[in-house]
Amino acid sequence: MSSLKENFFLNTLLKKTNLLLSHSGSFSNSQIFKFIMPHKYDFLVIGSGIAGLSYAVKLARHFDEKKEPVRIAVITKVQADETNTKYAQGGIAAVWSKDDTFQKHIEDTMVAGDSINNKKVVEIVVTEAPERIQELINYGTRFDKEHDGDQYDLAKEGGHSDHRILHFKDITGAEIERALLAEVKSYESIEIFTHFFAIDLITQHHLGETVYRYREDIKCFGAYVLNRQTGEVEKFLAKTTMLATGGIGQIYQSTTNPTVATGDGIAMAYRAKGICDNMEFIQFHPTSLHQPGKKPSFLISEAVRGFGGILKNKDGSTFMENYDERLSLAPRDIVARAIDSEMKRLGVSNVYLDVKHCDYEKFLEHFPNITQYCKDHLGLDIRKDMIPVVPAQHYLCGGVKVNEFGQTNINYLYAAGECSCTGLHGANRLASNSLLEAVVFAHRAFEKTIENIDGAIIPDNIPDWDDSGTSHPEEQVLVTEMTRELESIMSNYVGIVRTNRRLKRAMGRLELLFAEHEELYKQSKVSVPISELRNMIVVSYLVIKMAMARRENLGLHYNLDNVK
Ligand code: FAD
Ligand code: SIN
Repeated sequence: MSSLKENFFLNTLLKKTNLLLSHSGSFSNSQIFKFIMPHKYDFLVIGSGIAGLSYAVKLARHFDEKKEPVRIAVITKVQADETNTKYAQGGIAAVWSKDDTFQKHIEDTMVAGDSINNKKVVEIVVTEAPERIQELINYGTRFDKEHDGDQYDLAKEGGHSDHRILHFKDITGAEIERALLAEVKSYESIEIFTHFFAIDLITQHHLGETVYRYREDIKCFGAYVLNRQTGEVEKFLAKTTMLATGGIGQIYQSTTNPTVATGDGIAMAYRAKGICDNMEFIQFHPTSLHQPGKKPSFLISEAVRGFGGILKNKDGSTFMENYDERLSLAPRDIVARAIDSEMKRLGVSNVYLDVKHCDYEKFLEHFPNITQYCKDHLGLDIRKDMIPVVPAQHYLCGGVKVNEFGQTNINYLYAAGECSCTGLHGANRLASNSLLEAVVFAHRAFEKTIENIDGAIIPDNIPDWDDSGTSHPEEQVLVTEMTRELESIMSNYVGIVRTNRRLKRAMGRLELLFAEHEELYKQSKVSVPISELRNMIVVSYLVIKMAMARRENLGLHYNLDNVK
């Protein structure tokens, strides 16, 4: 039976069985769901941002062209488009104009990354960029063009030596997400499961074997996933699993990342004995809109500085000349630290971005969303008022370590996008290289997946999720308060500027939180808040541990005790 037919048959059987049982009167709801067959797929993709969707589309198209049946599941913890991708503003970087060169993009990426980038990966990403971006265009993604012709309007951002950012207004990510979702929906072989929350990856550990981090034959067989509608944990079995779960911003009080960014994929991989790297390199975007208490923070794109916006203090004086000759367009680590230092020096809670001198009509054309948001939320008229800005957590350069084909150290487990660490960014990501990395690595992972698929086997004795002895936590307030504590630890001790003492204190506090949470987790029926907190604790642990181990200041990691 082809897998598509098999799926239809199983689903029909399942519906009939559940109907029968629910009318029998002798089973409780939870007992009924124990009869639900596991989901069996060829490919499981966890995450529906640019990385996950690009990978799924590539697989579907490949099997479509070969006229072979295939089953691909894409799961996402809320609605499909709620991703970091959707909020991307500035754009996607690539050498596109004839005056620009691959060599210049490679050098800019290396300089931003403090030269600890993996040079080979940098070369791969930069040279493969135009082909991958052309694919996005072929899927229907629109990028702005210049008025007087067919050429793309290429923007410039901090750290770039040339104009090379393709963008759609100031909502590039939403446009890419829209086009990719439409493409995904055109394939019958892809099923999207919205409001499904992946809890843990399945490996030999679940078959009773001892799995340790440097064992070479760990295999991933899929994931245990919480169906948020039913509250039941379902088994998603797959020959290959792709982690595309995005960032970790929610571990900080102030972040540009949406609420889905809780580092789930990284934590799941780490628990499954995956290797993580470069977690200390947390990027703080210099210019999020200053709106105290608002989470996530609204981003004022770096492209605004590329357009001519200038950083200033309240009295209108400039300060970047005291920090870097590239002024407001220096790489992000430098600008964010400069702002942090100005705020501390003057005892203020924000600085300003001045665009009053810019051509208003042109500004509006490029940044309609930002202009409108500033007006609606702070009553600002950017022709007369400066925009109050403050740094906020924005991006994680590290993540699950992968090779140049997106393979993790766990067999049949790939990672792409923000949750992965490819080595592209080194100690600091160059603006607009993230969306690019995601499409390049989704493609490379797809190619390797196809090459390796024949060896993949799913054992038939993987146990169901066992939650016997647990109950629904009565005190949800504990999870809420622990989450607040975690955000406070990370923001106060593991921010833009670190010290040995702050890091030590952070680790001490985190250990207490970990112990309290473990106790609660073991007693509780699994829920999204308790699982997200569990993941955020793991991810914070990795950030602090790697920050403590890093003895020199590089890129985004700045420890005052390392200053000679
Ligand atoms: P995401 O797009 O974040 O997708 C993650 C997916 O994983 C979501 O579908 C989520 O629901 C799902 N998920 C997570 N955990 C689970 C779980 N446990 N179970 C099920 N599903 C789960 N980069 C650029 O290159 N250029 C820009 O201009 C730019 N601007 C940005 C502006 C903002 C405001 C932000 C926040 C980021 C920006 N970035 C930009 C960074 C870039 O957007 C992200 O790094 C990139 O979109 C990440 O894509 P992704 O596919 O890896 O993850
Ligand atoms: C921005 O628009 O400033 C964000 C760009 C990025 O994160 O690469």
